Amino acid sequence: MKAEPMLRLGVNIDHVATVRQARRGHHPDPVIAAGLAVVGGASGITVHLREDRRHIQERDVRLVRATTTACLNLEMAAVEEMCRFALDVRPDEATLVPEKREELTTEGGLDLVTHERAVREIAARLLDAGILVSLFIDPNPRQVEAAHRIKAQAIELQTGSYSEATTREDRKARLVELAEAALMAHQLGLRVHAGHGLDYQNVQAVAAIPQLEELNIGHSIVSRSILVGMEQAVRQMRQAMDQGRGGGSWERFI
Ligand code: PXP
Repeated sequence: MKAEPMLRLGVNIDHVATVRQARRGHHPDPVIAAGLAVVGGASGITVHLREDRRHIQERDVRLVRATTTACLNLEMAAVEEMCRFALDVRPDEATLVPEKREELTTEGGLDLVTHERAVREIAARLLDAGILVSLFIDPNPRQVEAAHRIKAQAIELQTGSYSEATTREDRKARLVELAEAALMAHQLGLRVHAGHGLDYQNVQAVAAIPQLEELNIGHSIVSRSILVGMEQAVRQMRQAMDQGRGGGSWERFI
């Protein structure tokens, strides 16, 4: 399969809200950041409404829903409270993620093999409401098979292990896992997204995996936006992704 020229970029604006919550005030407003991200070339806006509301607030999700021209992707735990919220706000897409109060950020993918029933139940209610359901999973064939059994339309492959690899061998091994999982999911008819820990240096190899349709990227873009502005930070990430999609295997980047 040839690499598609275009890969969608979902910009995760959670950490704009993290800066605001440092003072529990009004600035910077993630809703304005969402607008500027779209001007810079984002195809989607991603927000994670966490149980502890440490960054994104319900108000942010509702205002982005009302104002963005891009696709809204709500990251959420597969629990009753969040399911009700999603059914009320109606994001275009819901990405189900594991959530622990004590973690700094999402650690690893959902274990669908253990939690298949609970995830299936929440996914079915979201699907019935016309919301595209994506499951955040590790690049592992058993998890991909379970996502297919659950009848999700998409998976988001967890790229955190790749991003944290410190040697060339490890990076290569993690990319092989991602490429194999992406191919398997695509053959099963799932849409394939990826994200977590991607930055301006490591995104090219992931973007070169031809089955990927969407990358969700937050921390690196928001960090750069503090220095160069959101619009410019998104443009530069788009350029890095397009460099990866330029043709040829991901192996040219390791
Ligand atoms: N995808 C998922 C499912 C996530 O939970 C996160 C972090 O909220 C991201 C992508 C973005 O990760 P990062 O902020 O490291 O780019």
